[in-house]
Amino acid sequence: MTATDRAIRHDAPGASLPAPAGEALMALDHLVRSFNTRRGPIKAVDDVSLSLGSGRVVCLVGESGSGKTTVARMAAGLLKPSSGEVRWEGHDLRSLHGSAFGEYRRGVQLVHQDPYASLNPIHTILDTLTSPLLHHKLVRGKRAAYDRAIELLELVDLRPAANFVRKFPHQLSGGQRQRVAVARALALQPRLIIADEAVSMVDVSIRVSLLNTMLRLRQELGVAFLFITHDLAVVKYFAWDGDVGVMYVGKLVEYGRTPKVIGAPLHPYTRALAAAIPEADPDLTRAKDKLQLRALDIPNLADLPSGCVFHPRCPYAEPGLCDVASPPLLDVGEGRLVACHVVARERGLGAESASGLGDVTLAAGMQATGAGLTDASS
Ligand SMILES: Nc1ncnc2c1ncn2[C@@H]1O[C@H](COP(=O)(O)OP(=O)(O)OP(=O)(O)O)[C@@H](O)[C@H]1O
Ligand code: SF4
Ligand SMILES: [Mg+2]
Repeated sequence: MTATDRAIRHDAPGASLPAPAGEALMALDHLVRSFNTRRGPIKAVDDVSLSLGSGRVVCLVGESGSGKTTVARMAAGLLKPSSGEVRWEGHDLRSLHGSAFGEYRRGVQLVHQDPYASLNPIHTILDTLTSPLLHHKLVRGKRAAYDRAIELLELVDLRPAANFVRKFPHQLSGGQRQRVAVARALALQPRLIIADEAVSMVDVSIRVSLLNTMLRLRQELGVAFLFITHDLAVVKYFAWDGDVGVMYVGKLVEYGRTPKVIGAPLHPYTRALAAAIPEADPDLTRAKDKLQLRALDIPNLADLPSGCVFHPRCPYAEPGLCDVASPPLLDVGEGRLVACHVVARERGLGAESASGLGDVTLAAGMQATGAGLTDASS
């Protein structure tokens, strides 16, 4: 049996509840998470829903403070939602107890941004990898645990593995430590890895190599990924075959297949993020949408703007519409969701959200450039 074969076995002990037919591996359903802060109560996550099939990848992208980690922590069962539910194979986490809950905890592994903080500095790499194996009785005896640790290191491209097992985290580079963190996550044969900015603290020079390793693991092991990043260029590289959700101050503002969202972004915020992706070809860079935001400041979560929370920064904001009503996240076709009054109107959707707000016209910038917010690919 190869290392890959062993990694995809999901024969850990523990009862599992049968998944209802057609249910996603994980579903986040109208998740809300509030906090009381010194500045007042905030909603770090405000009505976020998404679902992830087995072996699929969904990315969450957004600026600092947009709620990505809070979503990740709720999905990993580390933080309770204020409302909404997290479902694992169709079962609300609150209904999972005992061995069924244990199976969920093993099935979902979180890889943090900071490999310095996530690995115990006084444990060798061997201890780090064998402890969960022995604790969960996934191997019998220390010899088998050692062999499995070697396999896991090879899976994450730390070769020759025997050179790494006796080392301590401080003897490894940042990229090598992050590979150990991924190997530790794989030790429990997860079905879903939540990678929260897993490559952002790694040197740019080795970021691509680490992403390649994770891409290979996706393909070979069939592990699903909830992949969190602030960098749309990383989404393009890692999840071209997946979905991406764009978050802005706690809300999803756009969601869809990665090539659509990046290739033909609809929401003005996504357009600004996509415009910032560097291109190797100068012609492509010149041809890019040059959307400029009106302001750079991210709003204070304790004192959010009225209406569309993006309106103070949006070059297309329409007074009397965008500063009055919050745009709902609407299905604009092909599994694509967008929360923008202007996109909705252009698509002939969401008339009720615009009705009674006056006879609004396209923003001046849109008329002048003829850019509109229409999906260029449609
Ligand atoms: N335990 C907490 N108590 C109070 N506020 C919190 C708590 N956890 C998160 N927040 C706040 O919730 C908001 C969202 O935080 P979160 O860490 O989820 O954002 P993020 O998108 O992951 O940001 P980053 O890109 O910087 O990691 C922030 O304003 C943060 O300060
Ligand atoms: S609703 Fe208005 S302010 Fe918000 S993104 Fe759309 S055009 Fe911009
Ligand atoms: Mg974060």
